[in-house]
Amino acid sequence: MSQIKKLTAPVAPGGTIGILGGGQLGRMLALAAARLGLKTHVYCHDPKAPAFQVCDHHTVGEFDDLAAVARFAGTCDVVTFEFENVPAATVEHVARSTPISPNAAALRITQDRFEEKGFVDSLGLRTAIFAEVNTEVGARAAVKLVGGSGVMKTRRMGYDGKGQTRVTSADEAASTIKSFNYAPSILEAFVDFSYEASVVAARGTDGSFAAYDPPENIHENHILRRSLVPGRLTEAQATEAKSIARTISQTLDYVGVLAVELFVCRDGTLLVNEIAPRVHNSGHWTLEACAVSQFEQHIRAVAGWPLGDPARHADAVMTNILGEEAADWRVFSKVPGALHLYGKSEMRPGRKMGHFTTLTPLTKARSRQ
Ligand SMILES: Nc1ncnc2c1ncn2[C@@H]1O[C@H](COP(=O)(O)OP(=O)(O)O)[C@@H](O)[C@H]1O
Ligand SMILES: [Mg+2]
Repeated sequence: MSQIKKLTAPVAPGGTIGILGGGQLGRMLALAAARLGLKTHVYCHDPKAPAFQVCDHHTVGEFDDLAAVARFAGTCDVVTFEFENVPAATVEHVARSTPISPNAAALRITQDRFEEKGFVDSLGLRTAIFAEVNTEVGARAAVKLVGGSGVMKTRRMGYDGKGQTRVTSADEAASTIKSFNYAPSILEAFVDFSYEASVVAARGTDGSFAAYDPPENIHENHILRRSLVPGRLTEAQATEAKSIARTISQTLDYVGVLAVELFVCRDGTLLVNEIAPRVHNSGHWTLEACAVSQFEQHIRAVAGWPLGDPARHADAVMTNILGEEAADWRVFSKVPGALHLYGKSEMRPGRKMGHFTTLTPLTKARSRQ
């Protein structure tokens, strides 16, 4: 293993945080960094990247152009990413010359659904039953293994429900893996959950840990529509969710914000659906409902600063604005609460264009952890 460059002191105001990826998450990270007096340099292949509009420096480049990535990293005190499909090899390359968080091993595990579920299992945490699928014969066998009904997902590169199909028979499973062009996949048991939730948490360079209250998440067409805090989780479930995030982040020696998506089963059991090694859509409400948002928290963590207080001072409902709905910005601008529009020029169906958050007085203060 080649040498890894470690952060030896906190990045002082005036220093530069590099961000691989220039979507809305990068944009909100850059805004949070600016508030702390830190500069940002964003690296993205898209010349119209939303984060380019609000950062100090930007580079248009591909993640596999390692020479360009190295030049970019050379201008930064520390580098992070806002997108889990940055190749782990790119992160490893940066790590030789510039401190980068989260670490490449954490990224490698979480960008492959099969590796990720195996990792979660190895920690004694629960997931849906799952099986690796590569062939039609394998797909037919996997359906039996998961109980006759499942969701087939490509191991890599899926998001917002892309690269996944519901299957209810061996024939469907076989035709699905064929339609995936035999891309390495997994079949998961279909979970008849009560609802979905997530926990967004941070781990600092000193091993400190801070978790936000877990929201209940409502998806439409596999895309997050709303996050509600508090949701339906009981105090005990909220504590369990935070402890799941703590175990995962400690084991990965993780630095930064991560999110764990959960299925809350009808018997109250929490199953881990997936881990996002980055700030997360279900944590956007923290911008208004917490003194330190998930974006500031991530910047604090990767810059080697102390973590901020994740306590929630209000109840919140965050609603995503998707695709063509952004044309109704005049309506959203009248909604009491906070409106965020991401500066995307093209309104593709289902594309995350913005969100708004409404606050109400705190009803259930939760203990800090
Ligand atoms: N095994 C499953 N059982 C039931 N619903 C599922 C299952 N897997 C995924 N879903 C639904 O699809 C959504 C997206 O799937 P997910 O695995 O989180 O992929 P993505 O990377 O697209 O977010 C989930 O939030 C959930 O609503
Ligand atoms: Mg998901």
